Order: sequence, then structure tokens, then C-alpha cells
Amino acid sequence: FEKIPLNLTVNNKAHSTKIEPRVTLLDYLREELHLTGTKKGCDHGQCGACTVHIDGARVNSCLSLAVMNEGKKITTIEGLSSGDELHPMQQAFIKHDGFQCGYCTPGQIMSAVACIREGHANSRAEISEFMSGNICRCGAYPNIVDAIVEVKK
Ligand code: FES
Repeated sequence: FEKIPLNLTVNNKAHSTKIEPRVTLLDYLREELHLTGTKKGCDHGQCGACTVHIDGARVNSCLSLAVMNEGKKITTIEGLSSGDELHPMQQAFIKHDGFQCGYCTPGQIMSAVACIREGHANSRAEISEFMSGNICRCGAYPNIVDAIVEVKK
């Protein structure tokens, strides 16, 4: 495949590259930018491990071709904290044990931040509904909801 130009911003840093149109945003982040905090679970839009924010909205990065993001602003788990200070949602996940193996955690946290930002954290049921696209095989769901409830306060 012929490579085509791509210019986008990832975690407030501008990137310009040439890339094959078949490459997903997930693979671009992990393999070209080495931002491996964003995880590949299913690679088919079913697990949420690859969740990032594109212009502030959560997206499964395995379902987005990198070239579809020309000019866009991407935030990954690496870009969530400011300096050495963890984001409040990261702190709440630690406090409430919102993970066991941790593989789904970056995606869970990116969705959890979007859950509050988009106004879907008004009850435990509403949170669970919004978070239902993020699968946790360890079953940390109640603790994840606890973390979101705390940050929402
Ligand atoms: Fe993207 Fe599972 S890896 S949803």
C-alpha cells in the first residue's frame, strides 16, 4: 500500500508521518509512537482495552484508521496525568482497587473520565451502562464504579 501523509496531535505533541491507510490508530500509537499504555485486546471493537479520546470523545482506537484522524487531537492514558501527579481518576482506581491484572485499566480509565465529562455518572446504573463496552475479565466492575462515583462527587 502507498503511504499517505498524516498530521495529528497526540498528548499535546504534534506528529507528522507517512502511513499506510490500513493501519489502525491503535497500531499507530503502539508501534510507531511506542505509546503502549493503550492495549490491544480483541482488535474488533468488543473489549474497550484500546479506548482513547479523539477530540475529547472516547473511541475504540482499534476501529479507527490512523489516517481518519488527520488534524485531530488524541489523548491516551500516557497523556492523562499532568507531570508527576496522577489524574484524579487514576488515583481513585488505586484507592478502590479498580483493577486486578490491570490489562483493561487504561481503557477503563479513559472511559471513566469520559463518563463523567459527558454527564453519564448520575447513578451506579448509569455508570455501569456507559462503561459496559469496557470488559474486565477479573470482574473489578463494582470497584471501578466506586472509583467513578468518588471522582464525580
Ligand atoms: Fe479495541 Fe478490543 S482492542 S475494542
